[in-house]
This record gives sequence, structure tokens and C-alpha cells, in this order.
Amino acid sequence: KRIVILVSGNGSNAQAIIEACQSNDIRGEVCAIISNRPTAFALQRAKKADIDAITIDHKAYDSRESFDHALQNKIDAYCPDIIVLAGFMRILTPGLVKHYHGKMLNIHPSLLPLYPGLNTHQRAIDNGDIKHGASIHFVTCELDGGPIIAQTEVSISPDDTSESLAKKVAQREWDIYPLVIAWYCSGRLRLEDDSVIFDDEKL
Ligand code: GRF
Repeated sequence: KRIVILVSGNGSNAQAIIEACQSNDIRGEVCAIISNRPTAFALQRAKKADIDAITIDHKAYDSRESFDHALQNKIDAYCPDIIVLAGFMRILTPGLVKHYHGKMLNIHPSLLPLYPGLNTHQRAIDNGDIKHGASIHFVTCELDGGPIIAQTEVSISPDDTSESLAKKVAQREWDIYPLVIAWYCSGRLRLEDDSVIFDDEKL
């Protein structure tokens, strides 16, 4: 399967996905990593792995629609089977989201539906939560609101800070995101009528 990853920053999840493809844990290849920020470290990771590293700088576009138009053209040029959002910090327009219905995944650092949006770790601490985590979901027009595929939990200790919690969650993300993408690429996982379907015969 052909995978395109969208990023904005560090790209540690993208790295985990690249490595899972290299080790054949994912039956697929990362064809391109596309960033909306030219300085994203994820682009260096792509180059090192000999993967196309592309910047589409949102600042060069005067509207969300024109940025998304350029982004969609670039993505489609790779004919991907799956589009993976991995720390991509732009809200996408409904037109683009619908174009990739059932093919676009996102990882969000909270136990959704808790804490959509930003600053999830601090919000969980401030709320006195004892557990936290990350969720992987199909992307729909509702921000961080699409059908949930998988979640991973970590416990919050009294001395956790936003930074320490972020580290704990990130470690889990590097396992669970490649795993879910492997399921998708092997045909085990799909979206049907807005429901997540697991086909265990494809395991
Ligand atoms: C992760 O915490 C992910 O949950 C969120 O953005 C972060 C991306 O980190 N969507 P990285 O760029 O993959 O290192």
C-alpha cells in the first residue's frame, strides 16, 4: 500500500511508521512526507530514509481553500491508499476531508472524546485525571471527532508535568500508530457507513 504522511514538526510518529515499513511490520511504503512548515524536523527524517520530503508552506497561500487545493493536488500525485496525519497542525477544509473519506487517519494525544484541540496533557493534569493517553481515529469534518479505531492509556502520577506526560504518551504512540496502519494496509481495518470495521480473517 502507498502511504503519504502529513506533518508539521518533529515527526517521531512518522519515524516509527517509516521503520515499521522497513521491517515489513507494515505492508506498505511511505511515498512522501508533506509538511506545512519548511523547518519541520520530519522533513530531515524523510530525506534520511530516501523518501520524498515536500513542503507546502501554508503562509504562501491566502486562504485555507487555496492551501488545501495545493495540498490535495500534491497528495493525489502520489496515488496513496492511506493518508496519515502525524502531528499535522492545520485544520483541513471539509472538501479535502471528504475527498479522503475512510482513507485518512489521525493520532491525537488524549483519550478522545476527552480534550480535542491543543494542550491536552496540561488539561488532563489540571482536571485531576488519573489516566490519559492517545487515540487514533478516522478523520471527519469534526476536529478530533471521527470514529475511534484504537486508544492507548497511560497513568498520570502526582508528579507528572505536561512534559513528562507528553513523553509517556509519545512512547505509546510509536507502538500503536504503526500497528493500526499495519491493520489498515493488510485490509483488516476499514470504515464502513461511518463505523470502524475489523475483519479478523485478514489478520
Ligand atoms: C503527537 O503527540 C500526536 O499525538 C499529535 O502531535 C504529536 C506529534 O509528534 N497529533 P511527532 O511530530 O510525531 O513527534
